[in-house]
Amino acid sequence: MKTTVNIALPKGRLGEKAYALLKNAGFECPALEQPGRRLVFENPEKGVRYFWVKPSDVAIYVERGAADLGIVGKDILLEYRPDVYELLDLGMGKCRMAVAAPRGFRDATGTTLRVATKFPRIAQSHYNGKCRDIDIIKLNGSIELAPILGLSDVIVDIVETGKTLKENDLEVVETIVPISARLIANKAGYKFRGGAIDAIARGLAQQVESGL
Ligand code: PRP
Repeated sequence: MKTTVNIALPKGRLGEKAYALLKNAGFECPALEQPGRRLVFENPEKGVRYFWVKPSDVAIYVERGAADLGIVGKDILLEYRPDVYELLDLGMGKCRMAVAAPRGFRDATGTTLRVATKFPRIAQSHYNGKCRDIDIIKLNGSIELAPILGLSDVIVDIVETGKTLKENDLEVVETIVPISARLIANKAGYKFRGGAIDAIARGLAQQVESGL
């Protein structure tokens, strides 16, 4: 019997782009392309089972072995540090993690800097590296609001086009790290289904290279 590889795709645009690469690499799944609300799709002939997962949950599915492979943003890997293998940079979903502040902001050292973010670990390690004392304000979205309303001095957030910052009179103060989507693998799954997993990773790598 053909080995089935379970693949967690992030729901949304990134997941759709990742599936397009997988399809071009020969791991298509016609059922997934039908409209509807199903979450699990299988193509036994190709040995793949896909499921749509909330983007920030992909790493959890892979770390715990519910999925052998997953597509996830580097931001999630840096923030949650899941115990998984990072197999490939897919070169898509490109953006950066940055510190942003109201235009003209100057950091008044000597005071504690208030930092609003969805990524407390990334923010903390960034400022630890600068020995800067900060107070983290953990939010779950619309981070740009925090400095506008005086909740924080700066934000640490994802910047893609920069449009959200611009429209809210904020600007990038410094870039922390560039971000892109990665292919990750469960460690035990890789041991037992390494051949099938490598075939998918190789197919994806070829697609990524040919797209460059
Ligand atoms: C992300 C990020 C910024 C925005 C950046 O938000 O947190 O708000 O995208 O994109 P831009 O530079 O192209 O404007 P997301 O859409 O994930 O929503 P959120 O408010 O829940 O964080």
